[in-house]
Amino acid sequence: MAQISHINYCSYSSHRVSLVSPSPRPTAPFKAQPSTLLRLVRWSHSAPRCRYSLGDGMGTRSAAAGSSPRRSLVTSDHLRHVESMAQLPSGAGKISHLNAVILGESLASEENDLVFPSPEFSAQALVSSPNRCAGYQQMYRRSVEDPAGFWSEIASQFCWKEKWHPEVYAENIDVGKGTVRIEWFKGATTNICYNALDRNVEAGNGGKVAIYWEGNEPGQDGQLTYAELLDKVCQLSNYLKHVGVGKGDAVVIYLPMLMELPIAMLACARIGAVHRYSPQMSVVFAGFSAESLAQRILDCKPKVVITCNAVQRGPKTIHLKEIVDSALTECANDGISIGLCLTYENQSAMEREATKWQEGRDVWWQDVVPKFSTKCLVEWVDAEDPLFLLYTSGSTGKPKGVLHTTGGYMVYTATTFKYAFDYKPSDIYWCTADCGWITGHSYVTYGPLLNGATIVVFEGAPSYPDSGRCWDIVDKYKVSIFYTAPTLVRSLMRDGDEYVTRYSRKSLRVLGSVGEPINPSAWRWFFNVVGDSRCPISDTWWQTETGGFMIAPLPGAWPQKPGSATFPFFGVLPVIVDEKGNEIEGECSGYLCIKKSWPGAFRTLYGDHERFETTYFKPFPGYYFTGDGCSRDKDGYHWLTGRVDDVINVSGHRIGTAEVESALVSHPQCAEAAVVGVEHEVKGQGIYAFVTLVEGVPYSEELQKSLILTVRNQIGAFAAPDKIHWAPGLPKTRSGKIMRRILRKIASRQLDELGDTSTLADPSVVDQLISLSDC
Ligand code: WTA
Repeated sequence: MAQISHINYCSYSSHRVSLVSPSPRPTAPFKAQPSTLLRLVRWSHSAPRCRYSLGDGMGTRSAAAGSSPRRSLVTSDHLRHVESMAQLPSGAGKISHLNAVILGESLASEENDLVFPSPEFSAQALVSSPNRCAGYQQMYRRSVEDPAGFWSEIASQFCWKEKWHPEVYAENIDVGKGTVRIEWFKGATTNICYNALDRNVEAGNGGKVAIYWEGNEPGQDGQLTYAELLDKVCQLSNYLKHVGVGKGDAVVIYLPMLMELPIAMLACARIGAVHRYSPQMSVVFAGFSAESLAQRILDCKPKVVITCNAVQRGPKTIHLKEIVDSALTECANDGISIGLCLTYENQSAMEREATKWQEGRDVWWQDVVPKFSTKCLVEWVDAEDPLFLLYTSGSTGKPKGVLHTTGGYMVYTATTFKYAFDYKPSDIYWCTADCGWITGHSYVTYGPLLNGATIVVFEGAPSYPDSGRCWDIVDKYKVSIFYTAPTLVRSLMRDGDEYVTRYSRKSLRVLGSVGEPINPSAWRWFFNVVGDSRCPISDTWWQTETGGFMIAPLPGAWPQKPGSATFPFFGVLPVIVDEKGNEIEGECSGYLCIKKSWPGAFRTLYGDHERFETTYFKPFPGYYFTGDGCSRDKDGYHWLTGRVDDVINVSGHRIGTAEVESALVSHPQCAEAAVVGVEHEVKGQGIYAFVTLVEGVPYSEELQKSLILTVRNQIGAFAAPDKIHWAPGLPKTRSGKIMRRILRKIASRQLDELGDTSTLADPSVVDQLISLSDC
């Protein structure tokens, strides 16, 4: 790269570096692009002998003022942060002068592309300047070297009826050494609802808004303070107790994003009932069907199902109660009858008169719950007592009931929320996820409320009445932390900047992303357009199983790389292993595993501990296997590369290929099916199904539609295949195993990369499939 000129660094603002050519007579200011590559030559500082360090991934490298820094190649984006990266003694003043050589434009590779938090942001961040990375590293080191000390100190900030004994945690995650077991704070008793509500009210925050609720129609809204929320939760708890729901009983909640949804979750947690949760919002965009709901009801046999009559999402009305009705009928046919269906009347969507009703079983929430007392003693439960079960897709057809317990989950969700979003008491926080998914559990409800945060709950659709709705809500409630999924970012990005720029968004401080790897272009749009280049993005990698964030940036603590989830959270020891399970050091790619337990980890798969061990702990003995591929770059940043098992991630929702296949083959005209994921512009991955029909059945468009409908009815709309590809036969090995690798290539039209097909039982199948590609 050619040397262009010598420059002096004169001044910088938070967005731009101004550089001028050599002193003593500066020419016109030179505006360096963030990607301009510079070589630092020398610099001086108003504080004598102050040390200076440039952000270099995790390692800060220092050099005494006046000498060349060890890392002297930087982009101008780094330069503008020289001062904030300097470990200045207090009152040190500013870096006054810096000489550098412009080398030219760096060929931006994603890995080298560092985006720094603004000095203003860093100065205020929970983990930041003057400690910056050093602050994180110190805390991180302590968290992994002394997890018991680290986590018990944090846990002490919560309310426990009795403290844990004899130890903070006990674990065996090595299948070779016996049964896998994870326990945190065992012997302690607590209550997560008490910690989320009573504790905040007792601290004098009863008058603070806990929930802002925004309905589907602009102008439809409501709010509850912490004290009001506590009252409502107590009333429902008392009602549930009255109808005989007690500790260990299951309650299925099938509600849209109304305030009654967190109320119901907290009410169950208050009385120690395990709430099991079927996400209904997903009826529209990721929803489970009546059949999926019935499957879950049959599995946990709840005493009560809580739902509402209908929900309005965008222009559509969805009759939730009718879905519940058919699920309950299905359950009754299987010999399980549910005695009580508590139904909230969601007036804005549907009048009660229009709701189908089964006397004796169905009860209106509004008719009974408000009659109960607003005081309800909490049920103290063991830290290891179950809190909730959430079903998630695996690589077999049967969903897995991921079981989380109380104490560790509470401490972990609260702490991850606080640090990964740099939470401050004045923040207004909005997570767009539905409570039916883990994100809604950990980061709509528990994590924020445990921190005494004000949350926004939105019932409607982000595209209604138009694509500016999110920013309208951001401005209306002065949202400062906005947490969403890449699929929403991509779809809003496609709709154009003007929907965003029409709104001020000046309240925004931190952005967040979850569900799938966020592609760098979506990241940049989110950062530049939504966040006006001033809000760090917390790209949080985690899973239903992990309960909370595992790898995520701490905003303000280190530079980000668009698309990288960066570094592990406190207490998390991620390792990358090869196929043989050997840990790989340094820059590498492989399978992502975790080496030690953390408080938020799931404890088992409901009713199937063996499957828990087989799926997560046997593939790489000694480790928890995440099912994700990951690479680590030279600076130690983690880049998640997606699932390595037969799980597809559609709009951030996990769907097992086997689940879709089993729905397809239940169609009377389908003989066999093989499903693969393909790249999708908005959804991240789309579902591509190869279908072999029963002998003699002709291909038709109606049949394609009917196959798709079968999947919608059995799993939900979000699992509907994007494409049905007719397959006279499927590429199988001689032992009968379907070679999905080949199917993936055909689905993504990478026909020159089919690879070796000679091991197939019938290689001609491949040509037949290719010839049917456009049908
Ligand atoms: C993927 C959602 C990359 C990953 C919280 C994981 C991500 C699965 C990210 C878990 C991210 C989630 N970057 N990939 N920030 N977040 N994933 O259980 O493949 O619904 O294994 O939990 O989503 O999905 P789940």
